[in-house]
Amino acid sequence: MPNSLKKNASMVDPEFCSRRDFAQRSLHAILAVSLLDHLCSADLLASSAKPTSTKWLNRVNQIGLDLRGKELSPVQWQSEIEHMLSSEIDLKDLTQLIDFDKILKKPRFVDNGARSHRPRFPKLDGIPERFSFSQQIFALKKGRSVVPHGHNNMATAFLILKGNFHGRHYDRVEDEKEHMIIRPTIDSRFGPGQTSSISDEKDNVHWFKAEDEPAFIFNLHVLGVNAKSPKRTSRVYVDPFGEKLDDGLVRAPLIGYKEAHQKFG
Ligand SMILES: [Fe+2]
Repeated sequence: MPNSLKKNASMVDPEFCSRRDFAQRSLHAILAVSLLDHLCSADLLASSAKPTSTKWLNRVNQIGLDLRGKELSPVQWQSEIEHMLSSEIDLKDLTQLIDFDKILKKPRFVDNGARSHRPRFPKLDGIPERFSFSQQIFALKKGRSVVPHGHNNMATAFLILKGNFHGRHYDRVEDEKEHMIIRPTIDSRFGPGQTSSISDEKDNVHWFKAEDEPAFIFNLHVLGVNAKSPKRTSRVYVDPFGEKLDDGLVRAPLIGYKEAHQKFG
């Protein structure tokens, strides 16, 4: 705490003021501290990460627009976003941009599956008011998962922020009435700074299980990639341990959110 605030705090003596006064002064002190916290983090961002962050956010926004406008294919978007997450911004700058420290101070978890936090980017000059993408941070306890699911009409990417994960991806080869034919494509350990991505065309199904606690994943996603798609933008939960077929394919039963979390959460 800055010295000036320590001084102010030490001046508040409950023996010399009413309970109401004390409550008001305490509230003022808390507000002053949180305002200072905010100003300090804004200053830090301004001094070290602002130019990088502005350029980076604009580029992520642009490739989202290009994906929707078909100037980038889904697979090209995947390549671009993974490069941008792993090489075009330092993990430190990104965590500052999404104020990850604030979430780390008071992380919220669920006992099953992953808890979603919704960080906001700071209002920087030179970035649009609305982006073509959205973001979230998944917080997980050890042994808990972002359960296996595919995606309809979405493009999405993961960046591990903290902890290690067992990450698996599958290509969505074919849709059946009650199953999805999938092919395993990635089965690897993912640590901080590592990325993976998804589109309707490649690695459409993923499953990430936390090996540490706490463990956090940053997620960027573009919804409604194809405005003319008959498929509503959504998740599709599957059990990847289905019937084994030829050529490494698996007939994975379609399951609901509840069953997915009972089995894999
Ligand atoms: Fe997903």
